[in-house]
Amino acid sequence: MAMPPRKALMMSAPSAGRPSGLPRHALWRSAAALVLATLVALPFAVLYRAAVSPSLGASWRWQTSLPSAVSSEEEEGDDLDTEDLKLERVLKKASMGDNTVMLTTLNAAWASPGSVIDLFIDSFHSGVRTSLLLKHLVIVAFDWNAYEQCVKIHSYCFALGTEGVDFSEEKRFLTSGYLEMMWRRPDFLRLVLEKGYNFIFSDADIMWFRNPFPHFYPDVDFQIACDHYVGNATDLRNIANGGFSYVKSNERNIEFYSFWYSSRLRYPGYHDQDVFNAIKHDPYIVGIGLTIKFLSTKYFGGFCEPSRDLNEVCSLHYAC
Ligand SMILES: *[C@@H]1O[C@H](CO)[C@@H](O)[C@H](O)[C@H]1NC(C)=O
Repeated sequence: MAMPPRKALMMSAPSAGRPSGLPRHALWRSAAALVLATLVALPFAVLYRAAVSPSLGASWRWQTSLPSAVSSEEEEGDDLDTEDLKLERVLKKASMGDNTVMLTTLNAAWASPGSVIDLFIDSFHSGVRTSLLLKHLVIVAFDWNAYEQCVKIHSYCFALGTEGVDFSEEKRFLTSGYLEMMWRRPDFLRLVLEKGYNFIFSDADIMWFRNPFPHFYPDVDFQIACDHYVGNATDLRNIANGGFSYVKSNERNIEFYSFWYSSRLRYPGYHDQDVFNAIKHDPYIVGIGLTIKFLSTKYFGGFCEPSRDLNEVCSLHYAC
């Protein structure tokens, strides 16, 4: 397999000298995400509520008719079902007409009342034409605490098998357990693709201001948000942010997600986003015919490159 371009890895991993240690920036990013979640999210919630207030009436009306956690209760009642069946059932229920679901992942550290997941859900209610998207959202819980919190606040929750590994504790979030948790993401998403569902994946520390569909590219296999956008959607010099993506279910993507997941073995100590930014140059991707486009930070911003126009922005990742 071709070696990754040196530049990409250097850029994403300043601590490359340590063979299997967690990259320093990953620690920083985790810590920063937690701190920012607390310090920054609240003012932003207020800010964008102000920005989109005309839609408030409609979205709150809709919220009162949100079905209570019926599907999740059914889920719990069926302990004998395999995890695979439970996943298929919840995806089917949440799916849009064209077999598209929205997905986010949750662990206990982000699940407590008033924390990241509440702000995430709240942003759908306050955003412009986003509240209806909630009935297509499946929250994938990495541990039982997160699952139990999820069913209190949302209709579609799925507990991803946690045998032998506990992803619930915050301390693990800053250790090698953090990497294990991050790598479950591409592994799980490949499974969703194999089951025939397209997905929009969004980290829970993203705020949704507007419906993103008008800003997706038609006929592209894999679209992903950016930490740094160079102004050209197909240029591989865009630095991807794994926190937001729109991916079609097809053979090319299934192949790509398998390749991405297995690439973790070639880059020990790096998380899925860093490895994506390395393997995006791999000739293998051209070989399988995968089409990739990067989403402009004008519409899908982050704290690395916040969108300048609150009248346009669809989402804001309050981490970088
Ligand atoms: C955008 O990037 C692609 C790939 O690098 C390149 O082929 C194309 O010419 C670029 N387009 C513009 C308008 O610069």
